[in-house]
Amino acid sequence: MPLSQNKITVVGAGYVGMTTAAKCAERNLASEICLIDVMPGRAAGLALDLNQAAAIEGYGSVVFGSEDPGHTEGSDLFIVTAGKPRTPGMSRSDLLEVNGRVMESVAETIRRGSPDAIVIVVTNPLDIMVSLMRSKLGFPSKRVVGMAGVLDSARFSWFIAEGTGTSVLDVDAMVLGAHGDSMVPMPEACTVNGIQLANLADRASIEAMADRTRHGGAEIVNLLKTGSAFYAPAAASVAMAASILRDEKRLLPCSCLLNGQYGFEGVYTGVPAVLGAQGVERIVELPLDTESRIQMQKTVGAIEKDIDALRDLGLL
Ligand code: LAC
Repeated sequence: MPLSQNKITVVGAGYVGMTTAAKCAERNLASEICLIDVMPGRAAGLALDLNQAAAIEGYGSVVFGSEDPGHTEGSDLFIVTAGKPRTPGMSRSDLLEVNGRVMESVAETIRRGSPDAIVIVVTNPLDIMVSLMRSKLGFPSKRVVGMAGVLDSARFSWFIAEGTGTSVLDVDAMVLGAHGDSMVPMPEACTVNGIQLANLADRASIEAMADRTRHGGAEIVNLLKTGSAFYAPAAASVAMAASILRDEKRLLPCSCLLNGQYGFEGVYTGVPAVLGAQGVERIVELPLDTESRIQMQKTVGAIEKDIDALRDLGLL
């Protein structure tokens, strides 16, 4: 792919952030990639390493790393990964306060230096952090979107491929709702090369695949013990970034502000959306059966409970 003349800032150079920056460079997604981290030297060191990989990988993106948020000025797109990851036994909601404060300060940086940017939030608890980011930024909601549906759907795709003995390349899967235990895998919207999942697996196996998807992040946290997943979260964030920066108009599940769609108002949750140069260009409504409708109500209820907790903390 030819080099795109854009500036991307990745905020947070932990595992997700550094992997995201590397994937953006390898896809030539921006002429300038700015990597920011509060730990002195970390972002600068990773940037130097990534620039030294350019001759081997053959990319034209130049990476700049710093702990000074001033360097993000004039960015077209932000991918916000800053904050603490989960450790075993923690739910994503346990990160509410600490990561909420991080969102506040990142929002200030974006608002001041890049008022026209599009922002992809990756930090957990995802649907709450993207909601907080939007409210602190005051940007139109189409320019503030959360990454999670692409990740959760990719996890579902993998479990479907494994469970049906087919190639993951042929699987199309969809997960709606919160990025948490209440997420809503949609088996009726899943196909393997156009063939409905129900023709390839029985109900119990499909439920097992959906359940493993719901706990897909925690399964990895429990194995790693000191952090959470990063390859798939980074891949998902970069797929969204590419669709926006290259105006690909991919239809991807992501956390968007609902304005009546699916019967909800003023809440961020995972729904299929078209991502293009304007950000979230269209939210697509799927017909839901009674069971999925009940699950969507539960997932939105869980998000609203965390939003109330954010208010009690004085963050919103
Ligand atoms: C996960 C984290 C990124 O699901 O939320 O792995």
